[in-house]
Amino acid sequence: MVPQWFIEEKRDGREHAEADLREWVRGVADGSLPDYQVAAWLMAAYLRGLSEAETATLTDAMMRSGRCLTWEGLGRPTADKHSTGGVGDKISLPLAPVCAALGLAVPMVSGRGLGLTGGTLDKLESIPGFNVRLGVGDFRRIVGEVGCCLIGQTDDLAPADRRLYALRDVTATVPSVPLIVASIMSKKLAEGAGTLLFDVKFGSGAFMGSLAEARVLAEALIATGRRLGRRCRALLTDMDQPLGRTVGNALEVREALEVLAGGGPWDVRALTVEEAAHLAQAAGLFGDLAAARAAAERALDGGEAMECFRAMAQAQGARLGEPLPEARARVAVPAPRAGWVAHVDAKAIGRVALELGAGRRAAEETPDPAAGVDALLQQGERVEAGAPLCVLCAGSGERAAALVRTAAAAFRLEQAPPPRRALVAGTLGA
Ligand code: URA
Repeated sequence: MVPQWFIEEKRDGREHAEADLREWVRGVADGSLPDYQVAAWLMAAYLRGLSEAETATLTDAMMRSGRCLTWEGLGRPTADKHSTGGVGDKISLPLAPVCAALGLAVPMVSGRGLGLTGGTLDKLESIPGFNVRLGVGDFRRIVGEVGCCLIGQTDDLAPADRRLYALRDVTATVPSVPLIVASIMSKKLAEGAGTLLFDVKFGSGAFMGSLAEARVLAEALIATGRRLGRRCRALLTDMDQPLGRTVGNALEVREALEVLAGGGPWDVRALTVEEAAHLAQAAGLFGDLAAARAAAERALDGGEAMECFRAMAQAQGARLGEPLPEARARVAVPAPRAGWVAHVDAKAIGRVALELGAGRRAAEETPDPAAGVDALLQQGERVEAGAPLCVLCAGSGERAAALVRTAAAAFRLEQAPPPRRALVAGTLGA
């Protein structure tokens, strides 16, 4: 394979031979291809697209560029989910232990957020002592003993993706469906879970703005998963409004614990139950979704999911007796008038959380674990004039006070109660 001919082939819209594409990915991973050729190919692939077969080959080759985990001998089916991310999306925290309580094994490798708010790892690290940097040996042991474990991406998992993603980030080639699919799937497939659920979000707080775009991505994820022999399902979920009443790392952990204790906001609980039910049913533990949903509800209400979370957290070094970090300043955002909350703009709330210190503007920044937006009113709730729409949490009162007007503008108030939004707009896959 001559690199410039390979680039030319895609530039002219032709399909790559499987062997050439595999050789190309080997050259990406071992560094023998220079950045300028990889970047040129990425732009050609961005403009011309990749066929379903090419996307599957690229994904498989990227997965095989590093270590691929296997999970024989656990005595339970393995399952995992990937969310395209959103504002207040803390679902992984209650989901993994609910799934473990239902009898699945969940080896979950998560990321850090570079969008508006922290990622799952940032949330977990706000729990004193919680260690997400485990080696494969401890990961395996905890998944076997507890049924779930959440760690950060190791250097040897899909290394080709790290190089490709870094180049995409600086060459305006991130928003390409086949490249996104290969990036997400190569990492998830390398984890080795037999059943995968994709939570593809749409709306103002999501990576894919519209339902139609989310559906295109979900279909491509499912098609690639199927070609590569994994059971995959996708849910298209609404991220136009924040999930739950909290956005920010420790605040979201507190809310996840409320859900694990059988309470919490309706939407966080409902999405946790829905995702757990889909995973458990797709993995073969239940014949139908209704039975799987009822079992997930019981795991939350009966305390089994909380027990799994505690066992996982303790195995990962957490000191659960210690309090979560609390912000020095809490500033309420008053409602300008009385009304019903008709809409809360997820992107606007995410931006406020970022400004308060809950997220990262650059990869090397460390989020403030205590910062964020708390006590968010949700769509359909009544508020009186001057009562709080939400509470801003930050390291200083000035920082929070400067964002009060911006936060208030994220809420649309109306004079009649709106209908409750549907969280799940569609389900794809077997
Ligand atoms: N998340 C990923 O891991 N990769 C992408 O390309 C986009 C989102």
